[in-house]
Amino acid sequence: MQAIENILSRNSVSKLEGPPPSREEMDIVYKSALRAPDHRWLRPSEFIEVTGDGLKKLSKIFETFSNDNIKDIDHVKLEKYKNAPFRAPMIIILISNIKIHPKVPEIEQMLSTAAAAQNILLTLSALGYGAIWRTGAFALNDKISNYLGLDDSNKILGYIYTGKSKIKPKKIPDIDIDNFVTKWD
Ligand SMILES: Cc1cc2nc3c(=O)[nH]c(=O)nc-3n(C[C@H](O)[C@H](O)[C@H](O)COP(=O)(O)O)c2cc1C
Repeated sequence: MQAIENILSRNSVSKLEGPPPSREEMDIVYKSALRAPDHRWLRPSEFIEVTGDGLKKLSKIFETFSNDNIKDIDHVKLEKYKNAPFRAPMIIILISNIKIHPKVPEIEQMLSTAAAAQNILLTLSALGYGAIWRTGAFALNDKISNYLGLDDSNKILGYIYTGKSKIKPKKIPDIDIDNFVTKWD
């Protein structure tokens, strides 16, 4: 029941502060992530955990990427992108390291990493941390992995920002499931 309550009450938190989850807590987070469904156990999901000076490194990468790839970027936008990593004490970069397999196409491997991302969000919530999955200019494109020091087989599915919540939990909307579910019986 607690597991279901955690799923129903999870919500994304955009304003975060320290401390980040501990080493022991992050071990549980990654174990949960790696229990996502994974066709043929190809293990596509990998993560880069960014904290401390790593956030400065990520900021520099975002700056370089923006200057190289975003046409006519203005000063305001560039500052926003440079500051983005400092919105949380920890960022988990979501990587799908695609394996060539006759039965398991790229999309299935990326979906497995998306499922891993949801396991991460749920586990962080259960451990008392806020988190939000962000993509934007630095994910889901063919160039960003090289800037992160990875080869082209690695697809960047986004960034989970995490830490302690600085805000009151937002009200979770009531959803009428009848609008989303068709029953064949
Ligand atoms: C693949 C994906 C990418 C997202 N990218 C962003 C993003 O770049 N910026 C953002 O503010 N929210 C982004 N979101 C939405 C938030 O993660 C979050 O789901 C949304 O704010 C709704 O909040 P909730 O999860 O509490 O319902 C993304 C969600 C997904 C699934």
